[in-house]
Amino acid sequence: MLIDSLIKIAYLVAAVLFISGLKNLQSPGTARHGNRLAAIGMLVAVVATLFQDQILTPAEMIAGLAIGGLAGMVLAKRVKMTSMPELVAAFNGFGGLASMGVAGAEIAVIMTTGEGSTGEPFGVTPAVTVALSILIGMVTFTGSFVAFGKLSGKISGNPISFPGMRLLTILVASAAIAGGVYMVSGAAAFPAISDPVVFGAYAVAGAAFILGILLVIPIGGADMPVVVALLNSYSGLAAAATGFVLDNDALIVSGALVGASGLILTNIMCVAMNRSLLNVLLGGFGGDSDDAESSGFSLEGKSITTTTPDDTAILLSYAEKVIIVPGYGMAVAQAQHAVRELADELESRGIEVKFAIHPVAGRMPGHMNVLLAEANVSYDKLFEMDEINGEFESCDVALVIGANDVVNPAARHDKASPIYGMPILNVDQASISIVLKRSMRPGYAGIQNELFYNPNNKMLFGDAKDSISEVVAEIKQL
Ligand code: TAP
Repeated sequence: MLIDSLIKIAYLVAAVLFISGLKNLQSPGTARHGNRLAAIGMLVAVVATLFQDQILTPAEMIAGLAIGGLAGMVLAKRVKMTSMPELVAAFNGFGGLASMGVAGAEIAVIMTTGEGSTGEPFGVTPAVTVALSILIGMVTFTGSFVAFGKLSGKISGNPISFPGMRLLTILVASAAIAGGVYMVSGAAAFPAISDPVVFGAYAVAGAAFILGILLVIPIGGADMPVVVALLNSYSGLAAAATGFVLDNDALIVSGALVGASGLILTNIMCVAMNRSLLNVLLGGFGGDSDDAESSGFSLEGKSITTTTPDDTAILLSYAEKVIIVPGYGMAVAQAQHAVRELADELESRGIEVKFAIHPVAGRMPGHMNVLLAEANVSYDKLFEMDEINGEFESCDVALVIGANDVVNPAARHDKASPIYGMPILNVDQASISIVLKRSMRPGYAGIQNELFYNPNNKMLFGDAKDSISEVVAEIKQL
């Protein structure tokens, strides 16, 4: 049939658009284009699916697309860049819920018509895919909404646990698996005997609902971006499982792409933090503590040197090359516009300015890139850690704006340090480093920073935005 062939071609086009979209997301310069390609791919896939079974009239399709598109546009326009992880968490949650809904609908269809949406009767393989869709979909749904709550501050960002929690998690996971096995055991006789499949499906859904919550509450708020990336991967797997239920190629391909890319992103973040995924998932790391944890570093006999905005202005204006290292504090202070002004001012005086971006600076993937792009800092001034690390030796001033863990030399040699082994930016190799922060409080990892006690390091205390504005004002007067 012509319509079937056209739909298959449309799915193929959508898959190609998804893949080229992902490819373009590899670099900030092409990311917008990539996002557009993937969005067009999604539109093609949705329209093709709507035509597949011709359930809706064209007017209903247009109305649905318009309502959905409008809701998406309003959300995307309103959301602040820094709230992106929580929006992604909510999207993942709804993705999981949709997969679970499709799996539930499949059971209902078979109960009424005797066969599934693919025209085949129920059997072991469809039962396994339906059970997986329900399990992964529901875990993704509740897990994502707990992550959303933690990121938006509606639930405490501190790790939440209670005695016996791990045992309870194992019991609930076992109940979910038992429900799935019960479902599959009744698949051959379904729908003539419906109890095992229906009861099993409810058992899987109920256990997975609790499991999603139990898996995410013990994880600290600051680790949520890693969890969101992982849940994103789960939502892709749930969609792929649903694709098998419906025998829908586009869903299988896009689900697999989301599953794989979410997993790769999770891995990149874990490697950049030098933590195993298990360590992140077992939770308990990084709460809201202000105290520095003990490590192999002793403060005895060490002191810091403080500086002022006018001294900083003089040092910067005599430099030939300055590397700016932004971190989480720049996001807190919302100092990105002031930072751009500073970079512009220095460049207008012939000073070379580069930005060094650590892969896990801030609290979400691409956090620094997003903030600096918002302030119109051009992409060609941003350098990834591996590209710029060799240049610190030849730079006159490294200006650290609210970064802490990502510039801590302890990561290289202090085996007792929780960040030991994490790749860091070589700020300590610059002729002079100046660190802008408000106090000596530690960063996310909760440890002292050796860099602050280096003889060639100066601390400029104060809110980063205020400090930079003062430095810019001083430079302008020189
Ligand atoms: P952190 O090590 O967390 O340090 C941020 C520093 O900013 C703090 O020491 C804080 O010191 C300072 N600060 C806060 N507000 C400020 C303000 N208004 N003005 C000036 N300074 C301010 O940040 P980082 O170096 O960017 O490292 C990121 C950490 O987060 C890493 O440990 C990483 O593993 C972790 N992490 C990252 C991600 C992603 S995906 N990026 C995800 C999870 C965890 P004061 O309080 O003294 O001002």
